[in-house]
Amino acid sequence: MCGIIGYIIKEGGEKNLAPILINGLRRLEYRGYDSAGLSVINAKGEVLKEKSVGKIDSLVEKLKDQEFIGTLGIAHTRWATHGGVTESNTHPHTDCSGRIILVHNGIIENYRDLREKFLKDHNFVSETDTEVLAHLIEYFYTQTNKKDLRGSLIKALQLVVGTYGIAVVSLDEPNKIICARKGSPLVLGVADDAFLIASDASPLLPHTKKVIYLEDGEILELTPKDFQIFNLKDEKIARTPEEIEWNEEQAQKGGFPHFMLKEIFEQPNTFKDALAGRLVPNDGVAHLGGLRLTDEELRQIKKIKIIACGSAFHAGLVGKYILEHVAWMPTDVEVASEFRYRDPVVEDNTLTICISQSGETADTLGALIEARRKGSKVMGIVNVVGSTIAREAGRGVYIHAGPELSVASTKAFTNQVAILMVLALQLGRLTHLPLATGKLIIKSILEIPAKMQEIIKQNEVIKNIAEKYKAYEDFYFIGRGINAPIALEGALKLKEISYVHAEGMPSGELKHGPIALIDDKCPVMAIVTKDSLYEKMVSNVEEIKARHGKLILIATEGDEDVKKLSDDIIYIPKTSEMLSPLLTVVPMQLFAYHMAVLRGKDVDRPRNLAKSVTVE
Ligand code: G6P
Repeated sequence: MCGIIGYIIKEGGEKNLAPILINGLRRLEYRGYDSAGLSVINAKGEVLKEKSVGKIDSLVEKLKDQEFIGTLGIAHTRWATHGGVTESNTHPHTDCSGRIILVHNGIIENYRDLREKFLKDHNFVSETDTEVLAHLIEYFYTQTNKKDLRGSLIKALQLVVGTYGIAVVSLDEPNKIICARKGSPLVLGVADDAFLIASDASPLLPHTKKVIYLEDGEILELTPKDFQIFNLKDEKIARTPEEIEWNEEQAQKGGFPHFMLKEIFEQPNTFKDALAGRLVPNDGVAHLGGLRLTDEELRQIKKIKIIACGSAFHAGLVGKYILEHVAWMPTDVEVASEFRYRDPVVEDNTLTICISQSGETADTLGALIEARRKGSKVMGIVNVVGSTIAREAGRGVYIHAGPELSVASTKAFTNQVAILMVLALQLGRLTHLPLATGKLIIKSILEIPAKMQEIIKQNEVIKNIAEKYKAYEDFYFIGRGINAPIALEGALKLKEISYVHAEGMPSGELKHGPIALIDDKCPVMAIVTKDSLYEKMVSNVEEIKARHGKLILIATEGDEDVKKLSDDIIYIPKTSEMLSPLLTVVPMQLFAYHMAVLRGKDVDRPRNLAKSVTVE
């Protein structure tokens, strides 16, 4: 995720565009904040540009006392995906000549193939996927004498696999901004004195309330005179602006009341980003490039240790089930704060995986260093590119969830599990896993986003359930097998943001003590999906019912039998057992969210907690 803003003055006047673009970037900073840059074109067709690593303020510092007088400009705030946080990786990117200038939000999955096939003789200055796009446009742009930026962009996009929100300009057509969208949002603003384009409506609001939300596959051409929208066949599409009523904060949140809800709803898309370019469906295999281990080295790994905290630890617990089942890989999972203060025995050929959304958690970082000291190979599964754990590990995988702003982790959790699944598939296929099984796993993985969407559609149902239970002060969360960690995660979510006491546990443990507390004041949320442990789960649910416990069940759609045992039920689509946590966790997230809202809590900034914990 990154933020884009573009501005073109109507009727071709000139003015200092830097403050306008910077103000726009500030409103998009929540979408990415590791580096930022802008390019402005003046009436003579010259470009003025600046880039800076760090937050928008460091770009502002660099721009001090400079005026960027021009007719149009594009700017970008970055959330690194491909390539570290450096000035050369900061947008805008250009072609070889520096005359085609582009900002991009999204991931060009096949950028390596494109580079290899079409751009062997081009000079690249960054490690980004985006720069390939600038050069691919150049490839078509220079094929004829006719300067046709829109046509060249369309030709380039026909070759691209991935997601994009793009704004591109050419010094050879200095009075145009061309934009395109697929999978990454872009909104056009129609003001009295300018046209604007941005990743969400918030930077547009100081200028206008008249907007058009571009659809996937649409191309927008902005000139000082007008705007025109085309499809990928270059046919014109008629669209009229609508009025928006949101204020800036609502616009940043895409109209959602809280970042947490927005991030829960983003999961079908962020999940796809985690997989982008990493699965080969026809071969039933997966590749995680950042592992930096050859197939032979991967085959030599005999044990995996996963170390993490909080939700990332729960993702690791899910990973244990997946790695043991799919890759037959013995896997231990441990809380980072414990690992380095006991005497951990690190056996030969162990790979230690540190999972961390922020990549800054002190306990996880300390454990990584300790594991490496004991001779383990280490890797990170991290969201924030260039974070300390990502750098320190030296090898690892980014989960590409985009900035997660709500303290309670949601989309990072599902993407962490996604990556563990991809890793298990990669390892499994290098040893025992047959092609047919690999293909089947990929097919099931690719069905997950649509199934997540089905659950998200039940938001109102889950809200109504939360309404019924909002006054209860104690909850149990139970599940078995691969869904036992989801019970822990469900309880953690509820505790974190609604301050309701909640305990999660494998349901087999209930009878060893916790069942003593079951009565009509302690509701139980139970995962009773149709899987290999279904009958055992049903028995546990019966035991709770017999003790007058209230039951909120998460069950597989179509299961009418279990409904009879429930007080309330949330149905989720059927998927393979190994992937089921990616679905069962979503109703838990939504339930915790609504409980917190209904109890009047500060959902995104819960008391006593921090998003990134850099103390022990
Ligand atoms: C904090 C956050 C949790 C998070 C944990 C680990 O406690 O509040 O939501 O799961 O840290 O953070 P990390 O960035 O390492 O995933």
